[in-house]
Amino acid sequence: MTNNNMYFIANWKMYGNLSSITTLKSIKIFSKTRKLKKTKIIYCPPYTLLRPFVDTLKSSTIKVGAQNCHHQTDFGSFTGSINAKMIKSLGCSYVILGHSENRREGENDKIINLKIKSAIKENLKVIFCVGETLKEKRKNKTKIVLKKQILNGLKNISKFNNIIIAYEPVWSIGSGKIPASKDLDNIVIFVKSLLRKRSRLKNIKILYGGSVNTKNIKELSKIRSINGFLIGGASQKTKNFIDIIKKTIN
Ligand code: 13P
Repeated sequence: MTNNNMYFIANWKMYGNLSSITTLKSIKIFSKTRKLKKTKIIYCPPYTLLRPFVDTLKSSTIKVGAQNCHHQTDFGSFTGSINAKMIKSLGCSYVILGHSENRREGENDKIINLKIKSAIKENLKVIFCVGETLKEKRKNKTKIVLKKQILNGLKNISKFNNIIIAYEPVWSIGSGKIPASKDLDNIVIFVKSLLRKRSRLKNIKILYGGSVNTKNIKELSKIRSINGFLIGGASQKTKNFIDIIKKTIN
């Protein structure tokens, strides 16, 4: 059995500038291999690089997404913000929402729910991030936290075909630590069954994110319940990102 229908999403966070575009050359070539026909590769650079990324990648199957958006779909007086319509108009197809680094800055479930609705309205695919903190994990509250984040984030939403969930334990992001395979499998299965009950949708995709790298990917890719990876630091070096994809699909 191969893993070739997986998602590989590069979240560049607040890194990169125009010269980073040159690093896309090798992944553009790599993405054309036959083995990757069903594989979804998505780049989420900072807002400033969305258009150059869209332009550079347009002759490939690699898609581009934003890392956040404002919850209001219409234009408005929101200094420093951009909305889903603007992101869509740049040629992007995805947006990451609910990332813990934005929750940490005050984004709550209610705002995230509005953002998801506005993104869906603009036909963007949503990468909806959820995850527990170390404190919550230690108190055995992981499933309670995930259930709350998911049910609140998806409140009054009935169309799920444009939503992908990314399970990103906060304690794992940037720490080099990943959950034990058995625990991770158990959590992904829990989230899938929660969503099945909530939406009767059988094939919602669940990704894992948090310290994914070229060393631990072999172990992570053995967990069959996972449909792909949301990768921060290791995605900024194209060679490593390609290596992670290769090691997963082979
Ligand atoms: P790292 O892969 O750097 O731990 O970041 C994960 C993440 O936050 C992706 O959204």
